[in-house]
Amino acid sequence: MIMNNLLHKIAIENNYQATHFTTIDSTNDAAFKIAKNKNWIIADKQERGRGRRGRIWQSPIGNLYTSLLIYAEFNHNIIFSYIAGLSLINTVQYFADIYNISNFHLSLKWPNDIIIDNKKLSGILLEVKPLNEEFKVCIIGMGVNIATNVETPQYQTICLHDIGIKCTSLEFFKMLSYYWTNNYNLWQTKGNEIIRKKWLSHNSYLGKVIKIKTDSQMFEGTFIKIDENFNCVLGLATNELITINTGDILLNAT
Ligand code: BTN
Repeated sequence: MIMNNLLHKIAIENNYQATHFTTIDSTNDAAFKIAKNKNWIIADKQERGRGRRGRIWQSPIGNLYTSLLIYAEFNHNIIFSYIAGLSLINTVQYFADIYNISNFHLSLKWPNDIIIDNKKLSGILLEVKPLNEEFKVCIIGMGVNIATNVETPQYQTICLHDIGIKCTSLEFFKMLSYYWTNNYNLWQTKGNEIIRKKWLSHNSYLGKVIKIKTDSQMFEGTFIKIDENFNCVLGLATNELITINTGDILLNAT
């Protein structure tokens, strides 16, 4: 059902729409089926939520499951995932201020997880698909643990209620639509670099020794930078620099 009252007024003024479902397979799939530019899908619950790299995203009631579809006019769509990561962390910080909560450590972890006290709060699944012969669409799927956190074998998780931020998923969504609209407009006027800089200001892994797992290998090295294409540049013990475009930084890596 179209429910634009779920959006912040700034998002409505910028021609976004919101479609709400109580239960759905995956908001990413629903966004693709509706295929409307600037349409947000929000679901209370997903039955087949997907995570990155083939993982399942458990989706019980109480958390936020949302996907935004944007018509892709060029090839380098990865920027949308960084605009989303930045907007998610802006939204968490907004609610932390409202609830007067400051005794926690909040950070963005490459590529786009939000981490609180070394545990995962949210993740992003970016999918690009051809709509027809002419157009591609980009679907930015976001899952945020608001009221409950499901443990996974790969990493520890946390939810906002755990740290005293007692907002609802729909309250969180309204502010997310505000920060997304502002960050997207900023990117449209100023380009990638401003987003990369703002994103980096929320990253606390730079300069640290980290482990990254790719599909085929595990790397350990110093996190040197995120390059202009948003790849992770790692300095190995051999002094060699390597550029990684997809993988997971391991939390509490042993
Ligand atoms: C990750 O593995 O970190 C990415 C998780 C992305 C989950 C969200 S929930 C809304 C959207 N619909 C899905 O099926 N997945 C994304």
